[in-house]
Amino acid sequence: MSSTEVAQARRIVTEIPGPKSQALQERRKKAVAQGVGSVLPVYVQRAGGGIVEDIDGNSLIDFGSGIAVTNVGNADPRVAERAGEQLSRFTHTCFMVNPYEGYVEVAEALNRLTPGGHEKRTVLLNSGAEAVENAVKIARSATGRQAVVVFDHAYHGRTNLTMALTAKNMPYKHGFGPFAGEVHRIPMAYPYRWPTGPQDCGREAAAQAIDQITKQVGAENVAAVLIEPIQGEGGFIVPGEGFLPALADFCGDNGIAFIADEVQTGFARTGRMFACEHEGVVPDLITTAKGIAGGLPLAAVTGRAELMDAVHGGGLGGTYGGNPAACAAALASIEAIESDGLVERAGAIGERMLTRLRALAERHDIIGDVRGRGAMVAIELVQGADDTTPNGEAMGRVVSYCHQQGLVLLTAGTYGNVIRMLPPLVIGDDLLDEGLSIIEEAFDRL
Ligand SMILES: Cc1ncc(COP(=O)(O)O)c(C=O)c1O
Repeated sequence: MSSTEVAQARRIVTEIPGPKSQALQERRKKAVAQGVGSVLPVYVQRAGGGIVEDIDGNSLIDFGSGIAVTNVGNADPRVAERAGEQLSRFTHTCFMVNPYEGYVEVAEALNRLTPGGHEKRTVLLNSGAEAVENAVKIARSATGRQAVVVFDHAYHGRTNLTMALTAKNMPYKHGFGPFAGEVHRIPMAYPYRWPTGPQDCGREAAAQAIDQITKQVGAENVAAVLIEPIQGEGGFIVPGEGFLPALADFCGDNGIAFIADEVQTGFARTGRMFACEHEGVVPDLITTAKGIAGGLPLAAVTGRAELMDAVHGGGLGGTYGGNPAACAAALASIEAIESDGLVERAGAIGERMLTRLRALAERHDIIGDVRGRGAMVAIELVQGADDTTPNGEAMGRVVSYCHQQGLVLLTAGTYGNVIRMLPPLVIGDDLLDEGLSIIEEAFDRL
């Protein structure tokens, strides 16, 4: 259920961005560091369900969810009420000073919801990057090893270690080095661009990855293999079938922690509570953030008790990690996902989107690939049917047209040629269809 106050209809009454947004954008230039970008600078007044309302009175269809965060909808009344109730009792004590029940309840919920029936522990943090940093710390501490294996096209955050773990230079790493060491990058099972075609991509890529790890790094030196079960910023790359299970098995056989970074894919987004479940993979450690708390900043590492508890007392934490209001929001948000059937809803959204977008790809040679799982769907643009050279220019034109029509749409991809769609899981079918029609129109007008 979404905020009922926000009318669930697209309504465009000014140019996009409108005059008030443009004025604020000018003001912002003198106040906000220019390194912080905004995909679509319409300044927000309210949001709920599948709609973002701006300060000029426009209502835009939301295909972004604040980058996969508002899975349960923006300002969901249950999330707002529970977080508000908590805020009125106490705002902060620091769990490391005086603990509180909400933190323990969120840890219990994550231990229950994440894949695997083994005994687990959880630590709460503030952001996805901080969760990934902590997962690496835990893996290193528990294994006594240092090397971390990551993949082409990976994105794990903007802190120093997570920049090192991230693949793409511009804009994430450029000029920000030196980076942390003992990070080893290997090829990703990217079916659309795999040299022998998609059919055997998962199997071949796994063999190559394992060979590279054993020959170049030495399995006995590897603390962790860190992977997004579906790569997010890299362009919603769903790894070739069998790749994740083969890597997880290899890790299990060699005492390596298999870390699934589910920061973007988690909390029902892909039609499962966690994307690893699509191939029955049980990670040793799992990082979560974004969709966990309906928009409040919260993140977590959840994992095998023996790994998590290998870290010395006081070795994990942070002033705000597991803030009480964020914990309250997470508990309401998790309840909403479960009671509203949002895992199933994400699956239905995915089917609806993939069907329409695959039909669109039949009509347009520049759509090289339509892919995704659940409400995490992307289209990769190329030059033509026989030329898979990335087509960032066409992507820019399509996205710009959609923005003008009032559709919040995001981009991604190492080559800057992927349009990604992440609607809130509470969006209605009518808004979903209208958003897809705008995308179709954009391609038809190219
Ligand atoms: C897979 C993945 N890991 C980590 C991060 C970093 O999360 P945050 O921006 O909360 O630090 C992101 C953010 O997009 C992500 O998609």
